[in-house]
Amino acid sequence: MTEQKTIAVAHPVFGGNEKKYVLECLESGWVSSIGRFIPLFEENFARYCEVQYGVSCNNGTSALHLALAGLGVGPGDEVIVPTLTYVATANAVRYCGAEPVFVDSEQRTMALDVNQIERCITKRSVGIIAVHLYGHPADMDAVMEVARKHDLFVVEDAAEAHGALYRGRKVGSLGDAATFSFYGNKILTTGEGGMVVTSDKRLSDRLRLLRGQGMEPGRRYWFPSIGYNYRMTNIAAALGLAQLEQIDQFLENRFRLASLYRAQLASLEDFVILPSEEPWARHAFWSYAIILRTSLRLDRDDLMRRLEADGIETRPVFYPMHVLPPYRQPGSHHPVADLLSSRGIVLPMHGLLSDDDICHIAERLAHYCKYADAAPVA
Ligand SMILES: Cc1ncc(COP(=O)(O)O)c(C=O)c1O
Repeated sequence: MTEQKTIAVAHPVFGGNEKKYVLECLESGWVSSIGRFIPLFEENFARYCEVQYGVSCNNGTSALHLALAGLGVGPGDEVIVPTLTYVATANAVRYCGAEPVFVDSEQRTMALDVNQIERCITKRSVGIIAVHLYGHPADMDAVMEVARKHDLFVVEDAAEAHGALYRGRKVGSLGDAATFSFYGNKILTTGEGGMVVTSDKRLSDRLRLLRGQGMEPGRRYWFPSIGYNYRMTNIAAALGLAQLEQIDQFLENRFRLASLYRAQLASLEDFVILPSEEPWARHAFWSYAIILRTSLRLDRDDLMRRLEADGIETRPVFYPMHVLPPYRQPGSHHPVADLLSSRGIVLPMHGLLSDDDICHIAERLAHYCKYADAAPVA
């Protein structure tokens, strides 16, 4: 019997200079947080994001924490955060001793619903984190307008959206600062890694200080304030630089796969909602998240189990923060996020997927939607 191939939900691709650059780190001995690849990766990634400065760090969560700490978030403050996000967005606010205040999502982009922000603003509000969820940009002009009106900072959590465009501009260049993750399932990976990008020189200087235990530049072992060890290694930066050299091709491949999904799943539009791309956006398609229509009598988790049995790995859309134990808010009402979370499935999306894989996934989905216990409610 031949073993069934599993189609992974995500997979990194190392097709460029990764081995060469990593080998250079090993041979030179520069394996920790000093070495030529760190400034090279920071400068090139910042340029790619159309901003002045990049401050690398050890993951996307520490990037968020650094950005918030650098912007002065502290105890008693409130930061407005979409409830539908990965938990790191909310956790970073709590690491600063502040409180995340959750807003509901907007269905088409799956990002925060800008119309809900203003009613969450209190005297304690200091900022907004806009998450470009699954690779689709949030409506940043609208976010910035509310933020400027109320004197709030804006951090873009772009962990999932390398290379996405908002009205022709790169995500990462739209707020006061933006954070990225380079975890193994991201569009660019350094294994574990992250970066804060900004065009604010004072902020980037402060982030560098906080990232390196708070040591004063030019005065070894002098720590005027408490910082963190959030540094990226030269090895990770070597990987990052090699990955960045290939970003256009990585994105082109994702756009092509997303179009193929759309074509193959078009006949299922009565059963599932496919990812939309607003006219002002270029979706980076980190993930391909579909939403089962409520009219479809098919349990989301059951469908995921069936796909898994067919060798197709999927993920549920994140739980919204307001249902998680550390953030549970009895009586809070975020119906759109609840719906996206309970009916959403993330399908495989990565550079090793073949056209045949996509056709196979679409065929199995069609099978379960159309012929299993999936009769649409009349
Ligand atoms: C929206 C979002 N923010 C933050 C992070 C945290 O990044 P990391 O896993 O690199 O700490 C992730 C990671 O998956 C994410 O998806």
